[in-house]
Amino acid sequence: MGQQDLFGGPSPAPDPGDFPARSDWLRRELNRHAHAYYVLDQPTIPDAEYDLLFRELQQLEEAHPELQTPDSPTGRVGGAPLPEFAQVRHDVPMLSINNGFADDDIRAFDRRVREGLESLHDIDYACELKFDGLAINLRYVDGVLQQAATRGDGSTGEDVTANIRTVRSIPLRLQTATPPALIDVRGEVLMFKADFARLNQRQRDAGQKEFANPRNAAAGSLRQLDPRITAQRSLRFFAYGIGRLDGAPLPASHSALLEWYRALGVPVCAERSVVRGADGLLAFFADVGVRRPGLPYDIDGVVYKVDRIDQQRTLGFVSRAPRFALAHKFPAEEATTTVQDIVVQIGRTGAVTPVARLAPVSVGGVTVTNATLHNEDEVRRKDIRIGDSVIVRRAGDVIPEVVANVPERRPADAREFVMPVACPVCGSPIVRPEEEAVARCSGGWLQCAAQRKGGLLHFVSRRAMDIEGLGEQLVDQLVERGLVATPADFYKLGLVTLAELDRMAQKSAQNVLAALQQSKATTLARFIYALGIRHVGESTAKSLAGHFGKLDALLAASEEQMLEVDDIGPVVARSILGFLADPLNRELIEQLRAAGIHWEESEPGPRVTHLAGKTFVLTGTLPTLRRDEAQAMIEAAGGKVAGSVSKKTSYVVAGEEAGSKLAKAEELGVPVVDEAGLMKLLESPE
Ligand code: IVH
Repeated sequence: MGQQDLFGGPSPAPDPGDFPARSDWLRRELNRHAHAYYVLDQPTIPDAEYDLLFRELQQLEEAHPELQTPDSPTGRVGGAPLPEFAQVRHDVPMLSINNGFADDDIRAFDRRVREGLESLHDIDYACELKFDGLAINLRYVDGVLQQAATRGDGSTGEDVTANIRTVRSIPLRLQTATPPALIDVRGEVLMFKADFARLNQRQRDAGQKEFANPRNAAAGSLRQLDPRITAQRSLRFFAYGIGRLDGAPLPASHSALLEWYRALGVPVCAERSVVRGADGLLAFFADVGVRRPGLPYDIDGVVYKVDRIDQQRTLGFVSRAPRFALAHKFPAEEATTTVQDIVVQIGRTGAVTPVARLAPVSVGGVTVTNATLHNEDEVRRKDIRIGDSVIVRRAGDVIPEVVANVPERRPADAREFVMPVACPVCGSPIVRPEEEAVARCSGGWLQCAAQRKGGLLHFVSRRAMDIEGLGEQLVDQLVERGLVATPADFYKLGLVTLAELDRMAQKSAQNVLAALQQSKATTLARFIYALGIRHVGESTAKSLAGHFGKLDALLAASEEQMLEVDDIGPVVARSILGFLADPLNRELIEQLRAAGIHWEESEPGPRVTHLAGKTFVLTGTLPTLRRDEAQAMIEAAGGKVAGSVSKKTSYVVAGEEAGSKLAKAEELGVPVVDEAGLMKLLESPE
């Protein structure tokens, strides 16, 4: 029997006047919807409808307190503040886990396990994610949530039951008619990235301090003495372990334990699998590493556990960590260092970005010496000063950023950042229009070498003309020596000139020339994007290329015609027309064409392919495709990908952890497909 059945399907609503039956029904409905949302990842109703039902139950219970039950979802809004947290002694200690970083650490772990088990065979391991949150113990007595405690020092934690009751994904009652007499469910409380962003937005709006990362936000929310605040904080929970268990047999394997949890309505992360041997572990790690940026929550590694419980028992523990488990950690994405200076950088559009010069520090396996502070307001809001100790983050390919300062380490002589009044590169005034967050150098491309360099680097970048070997240092030299002023000048460079530059030789110069030659065969979309027109990103460039088909059609377009292009509004249209009206830009375009840059011109209008006119919205994590891959495939078939669901959406493609977009699709009756469904649509006309 599937677990959906335990909660029952929708049942007919009793008469609102029959209070006992009505409150009973409301509780069942609310619990069913919450379970569908948090555990099955299949939302059944829109949030607003849930809230309506919730309020009705709240009012009923207020008017008739005798109808209240211990597992009522209304208990989740948070009661009165506590004077302090009570101490809770864990019946079974909450241990920590040993860490490994390198492949060798993982192979050594596997070797120790095999030796400990005297096994000649490869071991089965349960692999899961290492969530970056807080460990928690949930005690259910006769199936009802009785107590929740933090890990504390492992032996004694804090009683956070009142707060945990507000976490909607944690069941207040286990979904079974035959619960164990007592079970300690262990797992991690965490905050999803999107909820974290929303929380920080709220903090900003309220003029309150932001949280540095989701982990701190989760910790701060859980250790709130006022549960009503916790109730507003969207915490989540994933189970990954067990403490004491009375009155039921322990499953034979860790993977079976997690399946049992899922059947009981306890959320378990879907990103898990059972693998064999050290190679299986390393393959799991590599796979998660690739998908990590797309996960809706932060993880700091993966965790391997010997799957069979009898084998776990044989292996036992050393000091405070089990021999049967290992955390395989990613290099830390955050580090603490000091701000030595704050300087400004001028971008290709003249935007002035404050950048912190840092004492070198290793973050995510790379040495970082600069980190962006985004803009003047950010510097003030985060209150970052020269001399401060700061937390720096670098996630994946993302530019390192200063996340927060460490107030207790501020030196007495810390200095505030002052926005310069003149561009440090060209001396033109720096202006900041009212209502805008960004200050700009007023010099423009002709006067400001920084803007010129920025524009040239954009032109050669991978998603634009994709000219390999033309990196920052080379472009710097070319601009400084006056060899290149506009992108067309790149194509006039000769072998001798290039080979004479610093750090260049015959061979590298040849490579650059070959890359320049190769870049001449391109697409209209790339060419438009490479021009660096303000507000014209990659997707707008694609829309323009698809709509006009030929460059001359775009060059001749009126504002009216421009507005007919998908996704182009008045601001973007005016920006494009302004760019094209400048004779220097016209000349640049002609010079580039004369240099031999070409593409296949198509007939105007979107290519007629079978998904033309269809709009897709992607949500959640797909099992094999990355989001950009799915998007590229849809676009190649003539379809479009939009960011939000509306009545005009043709399909929502939903993966794991799909959230509000899926709910919206169901609300609007938009068809929902999974990855397999998408592949079908891509293959053949419907
Ligand atoms: S198992 C006996 N599994 O990492 C093993 N821990 O250092 C007990 N954590 O405090 C822990 N994800 O907060 C386990 N999938 C996972 C985990 C996980 C995150 C945290 C947990 C614990 C720490 C262990």
